[in-house]
Amino acid sequence: MRRIDLFGVEEVSDGEMKMAWVDGTDQVLVINTGGEFTALQGICSHEYFELDKGFLTNGTLTCALHLSRFDLSSGEPLDPPADAPLAIYPVVVEDGRVLIEVSDGPLEISE
Ligand code: FES
Repeated sequence: MRRIDLFGVEEVSDGEMKMAWVDGTDQVLVINTGGEFTALQGICSHEYFELDKGFLTNGTLTCALHLSRFDLSSGEPLDPPADAPLAIYPVVVEDGRVLIEVSDGPLEISE
């Protein structure tokens, strides 16, 4: 397992999201919902599009390109055209930092 430090908790306000770069190539989206942090793959599972350009509503994230909504707790798509779930990474908050805990090797990303 490896822990990846993304940024400080104060860098993402409640109700907001922020993208972090991991390994210089992958983007991870962190969402703050009432002080709970969720980390998902930052690029849509449908086509290459950054999800931080989307919208957060009631526990879902809508991709701004083709408007598929994804459930933030499962990563599952709720509307077409996306049909693959977004990868979700376990978050650890430690010493005021937001980290993800993932297996060794390349970050798991679904497309
Ligand atoms: S790129 Fe996100 S729904 Fe098509």
